[in-house]
Amino acid sequence: MGHSQPPTRATPTSTSEVQQTSEVDLLIHSAAQLLTLAGGPQRGQELGRLGIVEHGAVAVHGTRIVAVGPTAEVCRRLRARREIDATGRVVLPGFVDPHTHVVWMGDRAAEFELRLQGASYMEIMAAGGGIASTVRQTRRASVAALMDSARPRLQRMLAHGTTTAEAKTGYGLETRAELRLLDAILRLDSEGPMELAPTFLGAHAVPPEYSGLTPAYVELICAKMLPATREHMRSAWRGHALPFVDVFCEDGAFDLPQSRRILETARRLGFPLKIHTDEFAGLGGTAMAVGLGAVSADHLVRTPGADIQALGQSTTVAVALPCTPFGLADREYTPAAALLEAGAILALASDLNPGTAWCESMQFVIALACRMLKLTPAQAIVAATINAAAAIGRQDRIGSLEPGKQADLILLDVPDYRHLGYRFGTNLVSLVVKNGQVAFPVWPEG
Ligand code: NIG
Ligand code: FE
Repeated sequence: MGHSQPPTRATPTSTSEVQQTSEVDLLIHSAAQLLTLAGGPQRGQELGRLGIVEHGAVAVHGTRIVAVGPTAEVCRRLRARREIDATGRVVLPGFVDPHTHVVWMGDRAAEFELRLQGASYMEIMAAGGGIASTVRQTRRASVAALMDSARPRLQRMLAHGTTTAEAKTGYGLETRAELRLLDAILRLDSEGPMELAPTFLGAHAVPPEYSGLTPAYVELICAKMLPATREHMRSAWRGHALPFVDVFCEDGAFDLPQSRRILETARRLGFPLKIHTDEFAGLGGTAMAVGLGAVSADHLVRTPGADIQALGQSTTVAVALPCTPFGLADREYTPAAALLEAGAILALASDLNPGTAWCESMQFVIALACRMLKLTPAQAIVAATINAAAAIGRQDRIGSLEPGKQADLILLDVPDYRHLGYRFGTNLVSLVVKNGQVAFPVWPEG
């Protein structure tokens, strides 16, 4: 079952329709708190509406949610083939992680140690390490090897409550290798249970063979890689939506005019857009991405004030990645208060990657966001569910518990949602349901 079809609008099923259904597949009931996150993405100061139902229940039939509400109401005329008693627990939508680089080979543990000794991330990158080091290890890998390498990470993400993630290419940096990464992502998505939203990131770094020749590499991306990617989607992945196209707009990667050229070319070819921007320097990438109608702008640490205002007036989702400064032991984080003040739609993601942030847990992202971005647990949960779904354009299908939506939900072994954020370093998730099926823990057959 592929997940990459364009999102279909959820068809709400009224409670009365459900009451006529004699039997559903799954009923989770008696939750201390059921967080519906109903009502769509939450902008600016609205952020933090969880839609809490006390003593709540959710009914699932097939892959969809068919009823949500107080347990007494949902259970009145409904029988379930399987029931799960959530007494004393919290039920909420599965986390959506809208920014990951989950497919790579090898690791960069040695660079972590170098950084602890004083080398900076961009210095290591300029000396041929960093992203280029992962590229050397990833370029020649087969699609099967790439999938084998990513699978345990996807399993850990799922076990920590992530039921959908965006996944980027960007460690191939040549057409064939980038397309292998894209195939690995799309095949892992088809394999399930983790749902993946693919992103083409040929503009992640300038590969070693183009060192000092950035304009020529930009030309290669625009003239060859993007058209080849579109052609590949049409021939090998017919019926699937085009992936996002992303670019690392940064001193030492792609400057503003180069980033614009790549994103404008991608837009002309029909790709939806994303951007890595303002991680180390505010080059104006955010305002540019807003102008181009990008679905999200990500990192946003050194974002100029005017760009924050531009985001606030737009539907481009602001994606904060607090694991990245944490992973780099930096002091500066995304200015969440200013973004919310401006009216932006704020989301959270892990940035899972081997260089700056090897973190598979959105629970840890939430814990960091509470402390370093000063979000409340409720705000962080919205940013990690319905707003994160908006950051990959899937808010009509996932990110909340509402009739008609995909049955992606998690149980936390805690009595109050504020344990998310408050606690960190252990896994609070005890059950994950993806597309109506229990995906974690994997129960023995028979
Ligand atoms: O989002 N900044 C660029 N890309 C990643 C890091 C990737 C890597 O170092 O391998 C990021 O932080
Ligand atoms: Fe990233």
